[in-house]
Amino acid sequence: MTEPDGKLAVAVLISGNGSNLQAIIDRVAEGKVNARIKIVISNESGAFGLERARRAGIPTKVFDHRQYEDRGNYDNALAAVLEEMSIELVVLAGFMRILTPGFVARFAGRIINIHPSLLPKYTGLNTHQRAISAGDQEHGASVHFVSDELDAGPIIIQRRIPIEPGDTPESLQQRVHAIEHEILPQAIQWIAEKRLRINGGRVLLDGAQRPEQGLPVT
Ligand code: GRF
Repeated sequence: MTEPDGKLAVAVLISGNGSNLQAIIDRVAEGKVNARIKIVISNESGAFGLERARRAGIPTKVFDHRQYEDRGNYDNALAAVLEEMSIELVVLAGFMRILTPGFVARFAGRIINIHPSLLPKYTGLNTHQRAISAGDQEHGASVHFVSDELDAGPIIIQRRIPIEPGDTPESLQQRVHAIEHEILPQAIQWIAEKRLRINGGRVLLDGAQRPEQGLPVT
Protein backbone atom coordinates (compact mmCIF):
# COMPACT_ATOMS: atom_id res chain seq x y z
CA MET A 1 0.00 0.00 0.00
CA THR A 2 1.13 3.51 -0.74
CA GLU A 3 2.51 5.23 2.33
CA PRO A 4 0.17 7.64 4.17
CA ASP A 5 2.08 10.57 2.68
CA GLY A 6 1.58 9.22 -0.86
CA LYS A 7 5.11 7.88 -1.29
CA LEU A 8 5.69 4.59 -3.07
CA ALA A 9 6.67 1.85 -0.60
CA VAL A 10 9.88 0.31 -1.91
CA ALA A 11 12.15 -2.57 -0.89
CA VAL A 12 15.65 -2.70 -2.38
CA LEU A 13 17.36 -6.08 -2.68
CA ILE A 14 21.14 -6.16 -2.96
CA SER A 15 24.10 -8.52 -2.73
CA GLY A 16 27.09 -6.21 -2.79
CA ASN A 17 28.42 -2.68 -2.98
CA GLY A 18 25.07 -1.02 -3.37
CA SER A 19 26.08 1.98 -5.46
CA ASN A 20 22.71 1.79 -7.20
CA LEU A 21 21.02 1.66 -3.81
CA GLN A 22 22.98 4.80 -2.91
CA ALA A 23 21.76 6.53 -6.06
CA ILE A 24 18.16 5.78 -5.06
CA ILE A 25 18.77 6.92 -1.47
CA ASP A 26 20.24 10.19 -2.76
CA ARG A 27 17.45 10.89 -5.28
CA VAL A 28 14.83 10.17 -2.62
CA ALA A 29 16.60 12.54 -0.19
CA GLU A 30 16.68 15.24 -2.88
CA GLY A 31 12.95 14.83 -3.41
CA LYS A 32 13.42 13.69 -7.02
CA VAL A 33 11.99 10.23 -6.41
CA ASN A 34 8.71 10.13 -4.54
CA ALA A 35 9.36 6.87 -2.72
CA ARG A 36 10.18 5.55 0.71
CA ILE A 37 12.80 2.80 0.95
CA LYS A 38 11.18 0.82 3.74
CA ILE A 39 13.76 -1.93 3.83
CA VAL A 40 17.02 -3.04 2.26
CA ILE A 41 17.50 -6.79 2.07
CA SER A 42 20.72 -8.61 1.26
CA ASN A 43 21.54 -12.27 0.86
CA GLU A 44 25.12 -11.46 1.91
CA SER A 45 25.71 -10.22 5.45
CA GLY A 46 28.93 -8.48 4.41
CA ALA A 47 27.37 -6.45 1.60
CA PHE A 48 28.53 -2.83 1.83
CA GLY A 49 25.09 -1.75 0.68
CA LEU A 50 23.77 -2.71 4.13
CA GLU A 51 26.10 -0.13 5.63
CA ARG A 52 24.84 2.47 3.17
CA ALA A 53 21.28 1.71 4.26
CA ARG A 54 22.14 1.95 7.96
CA ARG A 55 23.82 5.31 7.40
CA ALA A 56 20.62 6.52 5.77
CA GLY A 57 18.51 5.21 8.67
CA ILE A 58 16.85 2.53 6.56
CA PRO A 59 15.96 -0.82 8.21
CA THR A 60 17.94 -3.78 6.89
CA LYS A 61 17.54 -7.54 6.86
CA VAL A 62 19.85 -10.33 5.81
CA PHE A 63 18.33 -13.41 4.21
CA ASP A 64 21.28 -15.77 3.84
CA HIS A 65 20.34 -18.20 1.08
CA ARG A 66 22.69 -20.83 2.53
CA GLN A 67 20.37 -21.20 5.48
CA TYR A 68 17.38 -22.23 3.40
CA GLU A 69 16.64 -25.68 2.04
CA ASP A 70 15.81 -24.52 -1.45
CA ARG A 71 14.90 -21.51 -3.56
CA GLY A 72 11.20 -21.95 -2.88
CA ASN A 73 11.65 -21.69 0.88
CA TYR A 74 13.97 -18.75 0.52
CA ASP A 75 11.62 -16.84 -1.73
CA ASN A 76 8.64 -17.60 0.51
CA ALA A 77 10.43 -16.13 3.51
CA LEU A 78 11.37 -13.08 1.47
CA ALA A 79 7.86 -12.61 0.09
CA ALA A 80 6.32 -12.91 3.54
CA VAL A 81 8.38 -9.99 4.86
CA LEU A 82 7.69 -7.85 1.80
CA GLU A 83 3.97 -8.49 2.03
CA GLU A 84 3.90 -7.85 5.76
CA MET A 85 5.53 -4.48 5.12
CA SER A 86 3.05 -3.69 2.33
CA ILE A 87 5.84 -3.20 -0.18
CA GLU A 88 4.56 -1.92 -3.52
CA LEU A 89 7.75 -2.14 -5.55
CA VAL A 90 10.67 -4.55 -5.24
CA VAL A 91 13.87 -3.14 -6.74
CA LEU A 92 16.66 -5.59 -7.56
CA ALA A 93 19.83 -3.51 -7.41
CA GLY A 94 22.66 -5.97 -7.84
CA PHE A 95 20.77 -8.83 -6.17
CA MET A 96 22.67 -11.85 -7.42
CA ARG A 97 19.91 -14.40 -7.07
CA ILE A 98 17.33 -15.68 -9.51
CA LEU A 99 13.82 -15.45 -8.11
CA THR A 100 11.38 -18.35 -8.49
CA PRO A 101 8.32 -18.07 -10.75
CA GLY A 102 6.22 -18.30 -7.57
CA PHE A 103 7.83 -15.16 -6.18
CA VAL A 104 7.56 -13.33 -9.49
CA ALA A 105 3.85 -14.21 -9.72
CA ARG A 106 3.25 -12.97 -6.17
CA PHE A 107 4.68 -9.57 -7.11
CA ALA A 108 3.60 -9.55 -10.74
CA GLY A 109 4.49 -6.26 -12.43
CA ARG A 110 5.98 -4.97 -9.18
CA ILE A 111 9.60 -6.14 -9.45
CA ILE A 112 12.24 -4.26 -11.44
CA ASN A 113 15.88 -5.06 -12.10
CA ILE A 114 18.90 -3.08 -13.28
CA HIS A 115 21.07 -4.95 -15.76
CA PRO A 116 24.43 -3.84 -17.16
CA SER A 117 23.82 -4.34 -20.87
CA LEU A 118 21.60 -3.22 -23.71
CA LEU A 119 19.08 -6.01 -23.32
CA PRO A 120 18.20 -8.30 -25.00
CA LYS A 121 21.95 -8.46 -25.58
CA TYR A 122 24.03 -10.13 -22.90
CA THR A 123 21.69 -11.47 -20.28
CA GLY A 124 23.47 -13.01 -17.27
CA LEU A 125 27.04 -12.27 -16.17
CA ASN A 126 30.26 -10.71 -17.55
CA THR A 127 28.37 -8.34 -19.81
CA HIS A 128 31.19 -5.80 -20.18
CA GLN A 129 33.75 -8.38 -21.26
CA ARG A 130 31.26 -9.94 -23.65
CA ALA A 131 30.46 -6.60 -25.30
CA ILE A 132 34.18 -5.88 -25.80
CA SER A 133 34.94 -9.39 -27.09
CA ALA A 134 32.10 -9.15 -29.59
CA GLY A 135 33.62 -5.95 -31.01
CA ASP A 136 30.49 -3.94 -30.16
CA GLN A 137 30.59 -0.20 -30.77
CA GLU A 138 28.23 0.53 -27.92
CA HIS A 139 27.12 -0.81 -24.60
CA GLY A 140 24.81 0.37 -21.85
CA ALA A 141 22.35 -0.47 -19.14
CA SER A 142 18.69 -1.42 -18.93
CA VAL A 143 15.98 -1.32 -16.30
CA HIS A 144 13.26 -3.89 -16.85
CA PHE A 145 10.30 -5.50 -15.17
CA VAL A 146 11.16 -8.96 -13.91
CA SER A 147 9.54 -11.95 -15.56
CA ASP A 148 10.13 -15.68 -15.18
CA GLU A 149 12.90 -15.60 -17.75
CA LEU A 150 16.28 -14.21 -16.65
CA ASP A 151 16.84 -10.57 -17.70
CA ALA A 152 14.06 -10.84 -20.27
CA GLY A 153 11.08 -8.88 -18.91
CA PRO A 154 9.63 -5.72 -20.51
CA ILE A 155 12.22 -2.93 -20.75
CA ILE A 156 11.42 0.34 -19.00
CA ILE A 157 14.45 2.40 -19.89
CA GLN A 158 17.84 1.93 -21.51
CA ARG A 159 20.77 4.21 -21.97
CA ARG A 160 23.74 3.63 -24.24
CA ILE A 161 27.40 4.62 -24.16
CA PRO A 162 30.06 4.23 -26.83
CA ILE A 163 32.76 1.62 -26.35
CA GLU A 164 36.07 3.45 -26.78
CA PRO A 165 39.24 1.88 -28.17
CA GLY A 166 41.26 0.64 -25.22
CA ASP A 167 38.22 0.15 -23.00
CA THR A 168 38.59 -2.66 -20.48
CA PRO A 169 35.75 -4.43 -18.65
CA GLU A 170 36.65 -2.25 -15.66
CA SER A 171 36.61 1.08 -17.49
CA LEU A 172 33.37 0.15 -19.18
CA GLN A 173 31.83 -0.99 -15.92
CA GLN A 174 32.61 2.38 -14.37
CA ARG A 175 30.84 4.30 -17.12
CA VAL A 176 27.92 1.87 -17.15
CA HIS A 177 27.54 2.32 -13.41
CA ALA A 178 27.24 6.07 -13.90
CA ILE A 179 24.28 5.66 -16.26
CA GLU A 180 22.71 2.98 -14.07
CA HIS A 181 22.63 5.55 -11.28
CA GLU A 182 20.48 7.76 -13.47
CA ILE A 183 18.09 5.32 -15.09
CA LEU A 184 17.20 3.23 -12.04
CA PRO A 185 15.90 6.19 -9.98
CA GLN A 186 14.15 7.45 -13.12
CA ALA A 187 12.29 4.16 -13.55
CA ILE A 188 11.23 4.21 -9.89
CA GLN A 189 9.96 7.76 -10.21
CA TRP A 190 7.88 6.83 -13.27
CA ILE A 191 6.36 3.98 -11.28
CA ALA A 192 5.72 6.28 -8.30
CA GLU A 193 3.96 8.63 -10.69
CA LYS A 194 1.95 5.68 -12.09
CA ARG A 195 3.04 6.57 -15.61
CA LEU A 196 3.99 3.07 -16.76
CA ARG A 197 1.79 0.35 -18.17
CA ILE A 198 2.74 -3.01 -19.65
CA ASN A 199 0.93 -3.74 -22.89
CA GLY A 200 1.68 -6.78 -25.07
CA GLY A 201 5.08 -7.24 -23.42
CA ARG A 202 6.07 -3.62 -23.98
CA VAL A 203 6.25 -0.80 -21.49
CA LEU A 204 4.25 2.31 -22.25
CA LEU A 205 5.05 5.68 -20.67
CA ASP A 206 1.98 7.91 -20.45
CA GLY A 207 0.21 5.47 -22.75
CA ALA A 208 2.76 5.62 -25.55
CA GLN A 209 5.94 3.91 -26.57
CA ARG A 210 8.73 6.27 -25.75
CA PRO A 211 12.14 7.09 -27.09
CA GLU A 212 14.52 4.52 -25.74
CA GLN A 213 16.59 7.01 -23.82
CA GLY A 214 13.73 8.25 -21.73
CA LEU A 215 13.41 11.54 -19.94
CA PRO A 216 15.76 13.02 -17.39
CA VAL A 217 14.84 12.98 -13.72
CA THR A 218 13.48 16.44 -13.03
C1 GRF B 1 25.17 -3.33 -11.35
O1 GRF B 1 26.07 -3.26 -12.41
C2 GRF B 1 23.88 -3.92 -11.81
O2 GRF B 1 23.59 -3.65 -13.14
C3 GRF B 1 24.11 -5.39 -11.64
O3 GRF B 1 24.87 -5.49 -10.46
C4 GRF B 1 25.63 -4.31 -10.29
C5 GRF B 1 25.38 -3.81 -8.90
O4 GRF B 1 26.22 -2.75 -8.55
N1 GRF B 1 22.84 -6.09 -11.60
P1 GRF B 1 26.00 -1.99 -7.17
O5 GRF B 1 26.00 -3.02 -6.06
O6 GRF B 1 24.71 -1.25 -7.24
O7 GRF B 1 27.18 -1.06 -7.05
